[in-house]
Amino acid sequence: MTTRHSATIGIESVSKSYDGKVNAVDDVSLAIAAGEFFALLGPSGCGKTTTLRMIAGFELPDVGRIRIAGTDVTDLPPHRRDMGMIFQSYALFPHRTVTENVAFGLRMRGVAKAEIATRVDEALRQVELVGYESRRPGELSGGQQQRVALARALVVQPPVLLCDEPLAALDRKLRQQMQFELKGIQKSLGVTLVFVTHDQEEALAMSDRIAVMNGGRVEQVGTPAEIYDRPASRFVADFIGEINLFDGRAEAGRFTTADGRVLPAPAGMTGSALAVRPEKLRAAAPGAGLIDGRIETANFLGGQALYRVATGDARRLLLKETLSGEHAIRAVGEAVSLSWRAEDAVVLAR
Ligand SMILES: Nc1ncnc2c1ncn2[C@@H]1O[C@H](COP(=O)(O)OP(=O)(O)O)[C@@H](O)[C@H]1O
Ligand SMILES: [Mg+2]
Repeated sequence: MTTRHSATIGIESVSKSYDGKVNAVDDVSLAIAAGEFFALLGPSGCGKTTTLRMIAGFELPDVGRIRIAGTDVTDLPPHRRDMGMIFQSYALFPHRTVTENVAFGLRMRGVAKAEIATRVDEALRQVELVGYESRRPGELSGGQQQRVALARALVVQPPVLLCDEPLAALDRKLRQQMQFELKGIQKSLGVTLVFVTHDQEEALAMSDRIAVMNGGRVEQVGTPAEIYDRPASRFVADFIGEINLFDGRAEAGRFTTADGRVLPAPAGMTGSALAVRPEKLRAAAPGAGLIDGRIETANFLGGQALYRVATGDARRLLLKETLSGEHAIRAVGEAVSLSWRAEDAVVLAR
């Protein structure tokens, strides 16, 4: 499977409702670059699968257009769109061997026998399944079945690969390993990959860019760092990782909470909420910081600790600290004073 072509994907003002009810996908526009690893991320029911199925051609948008490599494909059936697809369930043929499963798409396309053999060998080498050619899916582990599905999708050399929660059925360790492998294969082939997941860690780890979806709409599109460091809305801030949120008002470089506390906030932003990541908080001796509190729970995370700190005004703040020889985990009940740098906080407009 050598690198050849990859394609841009344009989703233009697309909406879709089922049975004329609430929009499953509501006015979504996305421009995905050729060769990009692009994630659709959001909670269950937010419209990820529907969006992917419209790209594939299994669903027709009510309004809007879909373009592949600049060509309008909105009215083309799936088999004329030249895409590979991988589902969570893998959808392998249970009674066929690995070789037969992988060869299927090439046979359907009428590729010559000798070429099928060469390309299947190459695909199985790529996903490290040499030696498993004559096994059936039931004789393979979950991770191996996943690789067969990947080889089967890639062997036809599609310019676009669509994946709907392809790793969700794997246990954590195998899932992480497959994340590395899938990303490596995608980069080496240069294929444009759209990856649906509800797992924010997975999206942050694998993607070039992420679209965060909520209720059928796209809340934010950005690189993992942009989404994590500069969430555009309260929903994105809350959905991606842990965060401390304060309600109030940002004006003229000050953030004032509803109960009158003035907090450090970056200048020049207006909005009604302030967000600070747990690892941006600093803990000092009581009275030396900004908000005094007491460690309520202490979770050991390996090289780091995550604390829940109960403050005087009945708030619960999350604090994450790196542990080392000099910095052992703090004890429950310890009094601390929390603060942060203005530039480490984000004002949320929505
Ligand atoms: N075939 C269908 N018929 C009716 N409603 C559907 C159908 N497929 C999805 N939906 C609804 O559309 C919304 C979006 O679903 P989906 O795209 O599957 O979300 P996700 O993949 O993010 O979980 C949900 O409210 C879901 O119940
Ligand atoms: Mg889904």
